[in-house]
Amino acid sequence: MKERLIFALDVDSFDEARHWVELLSAEVGMFKVGKQLFTRCGPQVVQMIREQGGGVFLDLKYHDIPNTVAKACVEAARLGVQMFNVHALGGATMMRTMVEEVRAAAEAEGFEVPIMLAVTILTSSSESDLRAVGIDRPVVEMVPLLARLSQQSGLSGVVASAQELPLIRQACGDDFIVVTPGVRPANAALDDQQRVMTPAKAIAVGADFLVVGRPISRAEDPVAVARAIVAEMSEVSA
Ligand code: C5P
Repeated sequence: MKERLIFALDVDSFDEARHWVELLSAEVGMFKVGKQLFTRCGPQVVQMIREQGGGVFLDLKYHDIPNTVAKACVEAARLGVQMFNVHALGGATMMRTMVEEVRAAAEAEGFEVPIMLAVTILTSSSESDLRAVGIDRPVVEMVPLLARLSQQSGLSGVVASAQELPLIRQACGDDFIVVTPGVRPANAALDDQQRVMTPAKAIAVGADFLVVGRPISRAEDPVAVARAIVAEMSEVSA
């Protein structure tokens, strides 16, 4: 279960990242590196995590013309990350081209194909935000539509809130990977998350990986909280 817990490395310096990786690499399977940390520290932060034995979820949400996204994702895969993501709104051709080029490079160069994920609709987007950019369909239709499009384009899964999980399972089946943020142990602060689920509930409704940040990083004893989350996840699957 530990392998299915991803710690969100939402920090802004290499030293702080290293502190968390040293503290938690025995407790979690992966570290999520986002735009802030990657823009600040670059590939050396990925290298540091790998040297400490951690996996990396490179959360850069690529969205551009097919050739540009494919080339960037090949570079992400060459870094040895275990997971990365693109925006499904970039379209089927972008996603398909990316998958083909990453697979071809992995075969030619002998590295492993990472788990390739899509983001459907950002959970921060309201329906009025979407209407303002010309998307009139409700989120409950857009999420499964984009998840299905990602699956048909060869991606392995999506990042989605636990509330969206049933819709995605219905559209894409049980083998499609769902990575779920917005996880809060009972009694933990919500921070800026609105719709949250406990680790046990998220696993019970079918999440494959959980992304957890502040409930661990802001805890008095982060290691104990990480262990408690893994224990809670394990109870469900037992
Ligand atoms: O600290 P917290 O547990 O809320 O961190 C969750 C992580 O997951 C953050 O890095 C956040 O950006 C990310 N995330 C999210 N909701 C989404 C997609 C990503 O909270 N829908």
